[in-house]
Amino acid sequence: MINSNNPFSLIGKTILITGASSGIGQGIAIACSRQGAKVLLLGRDLKRLNDTLARCENGKDHAGLSLDFQDTDGWTDEFTSFAKENAPIHGFVHAAGISPTVPFKIIKAEQIQETFQLNVFSAIEILQIISKVGIKSPEGMSMVMISSVMSEVGQKGKSLYAMTKAALVALVKSLALEYADKNIRFNAISPSVVNTPLSGKSEYRKDPAAMKQVEDMHPLGLGEVEDVAHAAIYLLADASRWVTGTNMVVDGGYLSS
Ligand SMILES: NC(=O)c1ccc[n+]([C@@H]2O[C@H](COP(=O)([O-])OP(=O)(O)OC[C@H]3O[C@@H](n4cnc5c(N)ncnc54)[C@H](OP(=O)(O)O)[C@@H]3O)[C@@H](O)[C@H]2O)c1
Repeated sequence: MINSNNPFSLIGKTILITGASSGIGQGIAIACSRQGAKVLLLGRDLKRLNDTLARCENGKDHAGLSLDFQDTDGWTDEFTSFAKENAPIHGFVHAAGISPTVPFKIIKAEQIQETFQLNVFSAIEILQIISKVGIKSPEGMSMVMISSVMSEVGQKGKSLYAMTKAALVALVKSLALEYADKNIRFNAISPSVVNTPLSGKSEYRKDPAAMKQVEDMHPLGLGEVEDVAHAAIYLLADASRWVTGTNMVVDGGYLSS
């Protein structure tokens, strides 16, 4: 039953978030907890993951697990136990990601594999695990992939990153159809530049002229993690119960400029 006083409430929902130790994932974790969700946090750096847990509100049963999705020895068994212990899961946000900038002619197969492993394949493995009976919420679920405006437009040196982000958008469109009868919704969010540790490392930040150019492409200015977190809350909450298969652009006007 939708909460008519606050359709954006996440009270009673358990939300799993990757990339929760930093930036957008951390912002989403904190914002979801403020809306009443129990949050399950995944990240790599245990100390920063615990910092996020300490900043989450409304309850003490939030949980965290440190995993490296690029670990070739595997992480899925440990994750499956964690998911079972904390089931049922109502929502999932995949915010873990890296954003390599590399000219196409020197991209190595190994780098393609590593980038896809984190940005795309880890999400696929998690989706397959949490949509199983015994872990998924029988009432339905909402899955949110953090993509990027790079799924829609290009940029020099971003072919590898853009491929991974476009893959997430393609994924949600088909899964939205495949799982509609089970009331599992799939959507993507495509931000442009958001102030985070990841975007802070970008080359353009070192050059005032290049930085001005990036800022000029954002009529509403650069984004903050809350701007993406509020979109995620909408897609996770019952307010969006009729929304599936979309790519929600959250970009301060970037794609229109
Ligand atoms: N910031 C932007 O301007 C922007 C714009 C569009 C889209 N995005 C997307 O938004 C997402 C979050 O970006 P962000 O800016 O918040 O980046 P961030 O601050 O660098 O955070 C990235 C997160 O991914 C996790 N991660 C990295 N490698 C991992 C691995 N091997 N295994 C498990 N987790 C790993 C990090 O964990 P540790 O820190 O613990 O290592 C961290 O929690 C990314 O998918 C990015 O592509 C960002």
